[in-house]
This record gives sequence, C-alpha cells and structure tokens, in this order.
Amino acid sequence: MGVINILDKHVAELIAAGEVVERPSSAIKELIENAIDAGADDITVEIQNGGITFMRVTDNGCGIMRDDVRNAFLPHATSKIKLENDLESISTLGFRGEALSSISSVSKLQLLTRHKSEDIGTSYEIDGGDEISFDDAGCPVGTTMIVRDLFYNIPARMKFLKKDRAEGNAVANVVDKTALSHPEIAFTFIRDGKRVLRTSGDGKVKSAIYSVYGKDFADGLMPVNYELDGIKVKGYISRPVNSRPNRSMQNFFINGRYVRSRTASVALEEACKGSVMVGKFPACVLYIEMSFEAIDVNVHPSKIEVRFINERPVFDAVYHSVKTSLSQNDARKQITFASQPKDDAFSDLRKPKPFTAVKSVFNNNTPAKPDDPFSQLDSIVEKIKPNLTQNPHPSFFDVKSPLDVYSKQAVTRQTNLDEKIEDIKTKSIDTEIVSDLKPQKSQKPVLKSEPEVVAEAAQAEEPKPIFEQPKNKLVFIGEAFKTYIFVEKNDKEIVIIDKHAAHERMIYERLKRERGAGFSQVLLEPIVVLLNKIDYEAAISNLDMFTECAFDVDDFGNGSLIVRAAPQYLALDDVESSVIEMAGYIAQNKNDIRSEKMDWIYHNVACRAAIKGGNISTREELIDIANQVDSDETLRYCPHGRPVCTVITRYELEKQFGRV
Ligand SMILES: Nc1ncnc2c1ncn2[C@@H]1O[C@H](COP(=O)(O)OP(=O)(O)OP(=O)(O)O)[C@@H](O)[C@H]1O
Ligand SMILES: [Mg+2]
Repeated sequence: MGVINILDKHVAELIAAGEVVERPSSAIKELIENAIDAGADDITVEIQNGGITFMRVTDNGCGIMRDDVRNAFLPHATSKIKLENDLESISTLGFRGEALSSISSVSKLQLLTRHKSEDIGTSYEIDGGDEISFDDAGCPVGTTMIVRDLFYNIPARMKFLKKDRAEGNAVANVVDKTALSHPEIAFTFIRDGKRVLRTSGDGKVKSAIYSVYGKDFADGLMPVNYELDGIKVKGYISRPVNSRPNRSMQNFFINGRYVRSRTASVALEEACKGSVMVGKFPACVLYIEMSFEAIDVNVHPSKIEVRFINERPVFDAVYHSVKTSLSQNDARKQITFASQPKDDAFSDLRKPKPFTAVKSVFNNNTPAKPDDPFSQLDSIVEKIKPNLTQNPHPSFFDVKSPLDVYSKQAVTRQTNLDEKIEDIKTKSIDTEIVSDLKPQKSQKPVLKSEPEVVAEAAQAEEPKPIFEQPKNKLVFIGEAFKTYIFVEKNDKEIVIIDKHAAHERMIYERLKRERGAGFSQVLLEPIVVLLNKIDYEAAISNLDMFTECAFDVDDFGNGSLIVRAAPQYLALDDVESSVIEMAGYIAQNKNDIRSEKMDWIYHNVACRAAIKGGNISTREELIDIANQVDSDETLRYCPHGRPVCTVITRYELEKQFGRV
C-alpha cells in the first residue's frame, strides 16, 4: 500500500458520510477489512464481552510505516485513493480514510505494527482521539489493533449496545462473512478465550464453508460456475431440499466484498422458483466478479450496500448461473447402497445387505417475517426479471388425466367449466390414451388392494412401455406400501415416486396457475362455518382469496361464513377445518404481501386435497402420476420441499448383486 494521504475537502465530501462505528461488530468489520487490504493471509480476531471491553485484530499484512502511523488516525486519511476519479473504480475494501479515526475517537486504542520495509516496529496508543504514547517496538511484520472500552467516552451510545452475547453474535457473523469472502486467508476467531472458528486459508471455497457453516450445510450444496457478458459467478447454492427458513444463509460477495444485494437475491430466488418450496429460501455462497467500474460501493457508510451501474446484467448472470447449476445437478436424490466388505466374499451370501436411501434434510417451514426487507421482492422481480422460460410441460391437469375421474367425496355437480373439461377428459381417455393405459391381458384392470398389486406385478411377463416420449421410455412396475410408485425408465434406472408428494405438487401448481378457476366442486349442501371475531373480520375482507383457491365462500352474518363450493379432491370433512385455518392464517399474517399469503393457502389446500400415502389408487392413477412426474420438471419437490422421486440406477442394482 502506498503512503497515507489526507483527502482534500472536495473528495472527502463525495464520500458517503455517516456513522462508521455503531457497535463492536462494525469496528471489527473495519479492522478486518484493513487487514485484508494490507495483503494479510492470516488474520486473528479476538473479543471479550461481546467486543465491548476488548477487541484485537492481528494480521500478517504489509504493516504501517512509522511515519504514517499518526496519519492513519486522522479523518479522511487513506492510502487507498487520492483523487475524485479513484472513486469510480474502487478495488480495495476501504477507501474513505474514516475507520481508524472513528474507532479511535470512541475507544482506547493500541496499535502495534511493523512495515515490511522497516526493521523496527511502532507501538502507538490513542484514547478518545488523544495520543497517549508513541514508541519503538519489536514485533513481526504486520499489524495488531487492540480496541478497549468502546464508547467509554460516549455513555449515550453505550446505552444502545445490546447484551454481550448479542454483540458477540454480531461480531461472529461479521467474521463468518469475511472468512467466506476470502477463502485464501486463514481466519481465527477467539471469543472469551475460546477459539470458535478457524478457516484453513487453502483457497478452497468448500473448506471455508465447511469451517463456517459445518459439514451438513457444506454437503448439501451444488457448485455454480458461470460467466455471462464479463460477469463471473462462482460458488455454491443449496440443493432445493436443503433450503432454509430465511435468507440469513444467502451470501453474496462482489469482488471480494460481502454485500447485501437485493438484485442478486431476487435473481437467485427467481431461478429457484419451482424447485424450492414456498416459504423457504435457497442458501448460497456466491462470488460475483465484475469490473470495478460497473459497481459503486460509495453509497452507504457501512460499505455493505452497493449500486450497480446497470442491474440487469448482474441479475441475468446470477439467474442463469443458478438455473444452470440446478439443471446440471439432477434434483432427484439417488439411492446409494451400503458398500460391500471386500475381505469377506461369503458374508454377502449369508446376509444380503439392505440398501439405504440418502437421508433428506428437512427444515422448518417458517414464513418470511412481515418486516423482512425483501418483502417487496415481487415488484423488483417485475422490474428486472428476464424473459424467464415458461415451463414447457403441460401440468397434470391439463392432460387427459384419469386421476380426474377419481373423487373421494359427495359432490353433486361440477361447475359448467368443469363439466366441459370433464367431457374432454372422458373422451380422450376413451380414445387416445387408453391404449397406453390399458392393462395387459394378464393384469387386472383396476388395483383395489395391496395383494392385488403384488399379484399384478408377479403376473406381468414382459412389461410394455406405458408412456413413450421422444426421450424416455417408462415401464410401470407397481406400487409399494400403497405409497411409492415404481417405474423403470429407459432400461437404465428405477424411479420411485411418492404419490402423495407428487399429487400435492400437481394440485399446488394448478391452483397457483389458474387461481381457483375450474377447480371448484359445488357441495351437495352448503356448509356454515363459525369463526372467532378476528378471523371472521379478516375472512370477509378477503373473500377473493378463498375464490382464488377454488372455494365459493360468502359472509353469512354473525361471525359465520357459508361455503358453497370447495376445491376438488378436498374431503368433505376437511372443508370446514380448511376454511377455519385459512381465515386464521389471513388474520395473523395480514401484513404479509398478498402473493406470500396466497402461496401458503395454495400449499395448505394442496396438502389436504392430495391423495394420501396408504390410500388405494388405481393402476391408471399411478401411471398417470408417473407420466406427469416424468414429463414435468417442476414436479421434483412437494411444496414442503420433500422430494417427489428418487432413483436407483441399474448400475447400483447390478453392483449390489455382484453383476458388475
Ligand atoms: N492493518 C493494517 N495494515 C496496514 N495498513 C493499515 C492497516 N489498517 C489501516 N492501515 C492504513 O491506515 C489507513 C487508514 O485506515 P482506515 O481504515 O481509517 O481507512 P481506509 O481503510 O483507507 O478507508 P475506510 O475508512 O473506508 O476503511 C489505511 O488507508 C491504511 O493505509
Ligand atoms: Mg479501512
């Protein structure tokens, strides 16, 4: 780094002004950033009492020249920029020349440093901005900053600090993010005498993630490596099943700086739509590299907000990088087999090894908080989303689905639209599709019970393809535990489908797409539902939400609603409880944006209405589900995020039997 200079008044005024040090974590952020800018590859952060009484940051960077030591603590003193033009292309984390001046004016600060070009180091003490001592010191090349008693001279600021634990957590968060931002630097974090983090500094993103977030998180990631119009996006995103209950694990780093970027976050979430369940958020550690001129970091004193000169290319780069990763990394989990012990060949014969499915990680389904700064995502998406490709596959309900014939409850008649759709479906079943679905001679037409399913599987001599796309040949094998559909695909793998999860996702997609239209069934007798006052008020002011979810609901006075129609497949017994639950949800989450509420409602109704594991299904229904899952890429996860299907490859199976 060059010599520290004092920025002239004009340049200083161009820099985003504001509070630099608000709490220990903001001071730590500044000190770590200085160490990174100094070229350190080993940084140790130590705090006591949440950092309020003690913070120490030690680095092995270039150090500060003796003649520069005093200057470093003056306002607008920096070695990183000089002229106004330099602000247009900032390549260092610091540039304002403000941090040390601010920190030293509100604490007791001690500096120990030796510049790489000097033989003797310097120790410097400054309390509340006043110099206490300036001496020679014997120390290695690098810098140690010790900050004691933050805000000791400003009791009013002290009052706003939280408990030690909360302040310490905020510091830990800063260390985590900066450690991730530079995997080539070894970070150590010691909190109240205990080492809580150590990254290896081996330059590998995965090892930094492993140290910061742990093995489970690291194991649930998919790589991203993409470049679009000069913008590189690298790193990892979470597999859809490993999505998180909030956005706290979305990490974006632009040119080595941890940033909060709504553009990047929206792009990530848009790309994951359809893969990640509603109310969950993809996690990521993504490094975006772009030209320094294309980004303005001088927008907020925290330097964590950035402005892109042009947002669209950044959105597109992130969006396509994530989409590509999702499509390259098959979303379905593969079944893995226990490995065979090599030393005892006969043990395999004595005791066949069971296979074990890869364990899925499920998370809590916590909806986004109303005060979430991202709650306006929808409007941002509208502004900047690219021509996102529509799902080219027809949904389950668009095709002539035999499942539509299946109905569990008493309904008298369909709406006119439904009648028409039903007509079309019935005709189609009679003519086009039945040939594919028609049971083989030796098979029974409809499976009613488990033994019959088994019998059918046993009788089937030469399975015929049930559905042939240009790409895929599927052969129906059968159903296990009245829940899992087994299908052979392209002679290469066995696909196992959870029929409830698949059907749930199909209903959810249809409700969302059609907003209730054509999915209603008129009830034989209307149902009157009594609600508490708050839920009732919320429900009658949002009757359209019920309509959009295929209910026909009206105000019936005195705290009650009348329900005349309900979504297809919803059991009669479930209608009342569904309406009560929806009204309660609408009342409790009135501040959420409408699309979030509707998502929850679709999701809730889809779950209740979907065919259940353990229910008896006909062969046609099962085949239809298999076809839909195969042809529609959106049907990979149920709205809860559980996988819809899993795969056993032929190779794995043959390996298990010693054929390969
Ligand atoms: N750990 C360090 N190693 C080497 N030099 C340092 C270190 N910390 C600070 N300096 C020097 O002190 C100067 C002032 O630091 P300070 O953090 O106040 O400003 P800055 O980093 O230039 O800008 P900003 O206010 O945006 O952080 C830096 O420009 C740098 O030259
Ligand atoms: Mg700095």
